[in-house]
Parts: sequence; structure tokens; C-alpha cells
Amino acid sequence: MAIYALANQKGGVGKTTTAVSLAACLADAGAQTIVIDADPQANATVALGLPKDEQPSLYDVLAGMPAVEALRDTAIPGLRVLPAHADLAAANVELPRTENSDHLLRDALAPLKDEAQFIFLDCPPSIGPLTLNALGSADRVLVPVQAEYFALEGLGSLLETLALVQKQLNPSLAIEGLIITMFDPRTRLSHDVEAEVRKHFPSLVFDTVIPRNVRVSEAPSYGMPITHYDARSAGAEAYFTLAEELAARA
Ligand SMILES: Nc1ncnc2c1ncn2[C@@H]1O[C@H](COP(=O)(O)OP(=O)(O)O)[C@@H](O)[C@H]1O
Ligand SMILES: [Mg+2]
Repeated sequence: MAIYALANQKGGVGKTTTAVSLAACLADAGAQTIVIDADPQANATVALGLPKDEQPSLYDVLAGMPAVEALRDTAIPGLRVLPAHADLAAANVELPRTENSDHLLRDALAPLKDEAQFIFLDCPPSIGPLTLNALGSADRVLVPVQAEYFALEGLGSLLETLALVQKQLNPSLAIEGLIITMFDPRTRLSHDVEAEVRKHFPSLVFDTVIPRNVRVSEAPSYGMPITHYDARSAGAEAYFTLAEELAARA
């Protein structure tokens, strides 16, 4: 019964992949899970096998539709999705103009807490009104960190933003942890970045590291999470281990 927001203002670090994969692993383990797609690009929606620009979407929920009515089944038993739509981009303009909009998403998503044990909220790659509303409605934040050269750049400002959100919007928001993604064990750089991230944030980094794995990058075009596209791939195994680590903390 917790909402985990996947947040990092950098694009391409593994937010969507991690949201979809964790939800699939935990659903496979018997939990009820939901992915809420808060990115107008709708990558999570598509990665779960639904068409882009399905309606109703999270946009309709922000406009007042009960969230439960916008939930869709996926091919994976126990995993439902609240789809995104290109219209959501407009929410970045509309939210700041709407009175008392700080907690719009939080109030809209509250009824979903009775529907699932794990809810993953996939944020867009920017700190705009939509992401702030998402962080305002989450219980915990997961931050994917790509094992590449500029990994640490931007992490400091992200953590500052999270501290501000905790102070002004959502005092109960907890930083659950950083997840190192797209790790390439053959490169010195990946090992250096991992060491650096663990040194800077000793207690925050998950033990499990997600390797770079081509099967993971193929899965979305088949509308399947990696765990269903190729359950025996290194990527699927890593996400199963990460899901166990997450569940053990919950
Ligand atoms: N572990 C991985 N190995 C290989 N490719 C990956 C891995 N994780 C993500 N990708 C690919 O990298 C790209 C960015 O990942 P994505 O999850 O969409 O990032 P974000 O949501 O942060 O923008 C996608 O094409 C995705 O398929
Ligand atoms: Mg994404």
C-alpha cells in the first residue's frame, strides 16, 4: 500500500524500465501492483502492451474522473496500469493555474491505495508541475542512476528538490533509494561510477545493480516487461533481485 515515484530529471536513466519491471516482478510474486504513467510520452503505457493515447488516461483523472475507473488490465495478472496520454503535457500548464492544485494528484490517487500493495508512479524527465504533483502524492521515491560519466551531475540538485518537496508539499515523502542502472561490468567507467555513487550516498544505494542488457531494451517494442519477454535474461534476473530487495524493506 505504498506509492513509489520513479524520479530523475534526466531522461533515459531507466525510470520507466524500472517502474514497469518492478511492477511485473512483484505481480508475478503474487502482489497486486499498479503502474501510473505520469509521462505524456506514455512509454510505460506502451511498454505494458497498451496503445499510446488510450482514453481515459491520467489526464482525465486530474480532471476529476475517479482513478479506479481509469485503471486497465495488462496481460500480466495482478498488474494494472493507469495510462498516460499526450494531453498530459497540457497539465504542466494547467496545474499551476488551478487553485489548490498542489495536492490534486495525491487526492485523486488516494483511493488506489486499497487496490494494490505496490504502486509505481513513472515521472517525466523534468522537474515540472507534473513531477512535483507526482512527488506530492508519493510515499517513497526511487531514483534510477545510469552508470555513466555524468551520473552524479544533477543528483545533488535532485536531492535538493526532494528536500524542498518534503518541506513544502509532502513531509512524509521518504527517499527509498538510488538504483544503479545500465551497469556494464566490462567497463572501468561503470565500476568507477558505482563506487562514486556508493561513496557519496552510502546508505541510499540499493545493493542490486541492474546490468546493461540488450534484452531489456528490446522488451518495450513487444509491449512486455523484461520478466515476460525473456525471464532468464540477466536484466530480468536483476529486476527480480531488486524486487526482492524492495519488498524486504517494505
Ligand atoms: N538495463 C538496461 N539495459 C539496456 N537498455 C536499457 C536498460 N534499461 C533501460 N534501457 C533502455 O534505455 C532507454 C531509456 O530507458 P527508460 O527506462 O525509458 O529511461 P527513462 O524512463 O528514465 O527515460 C530505453 O530505450 C530502455 O529500453
Ligand atoms: Mg521514461
